[in-house]
Amino acid sequence: MKSVSAPAGRLARPGAAPGARPLLAAGLLLPLLAACGEDHVTRYPQTTFAPTTEMGEIQIGLFNLTLYLGVAVGLLTFAGLGYILWKFRYHPDAPEPTQVHGNTTLEVAWTLIPALIVAVIAVFTVQAIFATQPEPPANALSVRVIGKQWWWEFQYPVNGGRDTVVTANEIHVPVGQPVQLLLESDNVLHSFWVPQMGGKRDLITNRVNRLIFTPREPGVYMGQCAEFCGDSHALMKMRMIAHTPQGFQDWLNNEASPALQPTDSTSAVALGKKLVTQGVCAGCHVVGGTPMVGRTGPNLTHFGRRRTLAAGIMENNAANLHAWIRNAPSIKPGSLMPQLGGDIPNALTDEQITYIVAYLQSLQ
Ligand code: CUA
Repeated sequence: MKSVSAPAGRLARPGAAPGARPLLAAGLLLPLLAACGEDHVTRYPQTTFAPTTEMGEIQIGLFNLTLYLGVAVGLLTFAGLGYILWKFRYHPDAPEPTQVHGNTTLEVAWTLIPALIVAVIAVFTVQAIFATQPEPPANALSVRVIGKQWWWEFQYPVNGGRDTVVTANEIHVPVGQPVQLLLESDNVLHSFWVPQMGGKRDLITNRVNRLIFTPREPGVYMGQCAEFCGDSHALMKMRMIAHTPQGFQDWLNNEASPALQPTDSTSAVALGKKLVTQGVCAGCHVVGGTPMVGRTGPNLTHFGRRRTLAAGIMENNAANLHAWIRNAPSIKPGSLMPQLGGDIPNALTDEQITYIVAYLQSLQ
């Protein structure tokens, strides 16, 4: 074996400089670590660093393995590079260094070690691929998820599959029971992603993709479309609401029956109902228990119970709903929901919109 020998002359002084480098690196990492503090889920609700499902844990485990191996390789490489640059730096009075060519041991080592590292990552990756695409358990709750431009439709079979509960943008699940999402699209590609539940998985037009996970902690989890799907892709958000099993059953039972309808004909709610069910809304929306049959837009049967509107981009309150009905495309560019109020022919008056808001919010 030929050796790479140091030239004679002045060599590195032992001193503080090499030891200071890790300290400097640690200092640079601190701001990054600060982002992982306790409240980072509150500050960054779409974090992948706080998984609450086994699927999420498998994914973060794989990420961490790759990250730590990469950091180790990076540190060793740069430490070696720094050492060599320092040790063999130029000296005006140094003699010509020994000329070397080839070193079998070194070459075998730097070929084998990376191959082994990649092989280890490959084994864990293949394991994770199989672990995150299991067969659906027999007790799984199946929810059909349809990606729209730009919102989400969720369908739950009820009464033994004879009926279907249809809702939008807020997907409700029970904790402790496996959930099987059947993902599809009737338009362009989308991707379902609620980061704390694991994910993400594409919704495509010519097949049904599955995503299986078991929620553990009740709570509200933020999610959004993760595949570019047109103008308002970034406004295609959603919430996953994980309930206790009883809470979920109560929600589903309520969804499965029509909301209470006004019994009078002169209140704001009753006037709003007339406008919604006999006017322009009926072409695109359904309100269960009324003659409306439109399927272009979200099902509004229990709209008043939703926390948000317009695919999770605004709180569901009277002012936001009024603004949305008045001019949806100004809030969500490209929205199929047209401008209905303001400066257009045959516009709804602000008073009429107020009635519509009152009716929609009454749909509990
Ligand atoms: Cu749907 Cu992006």
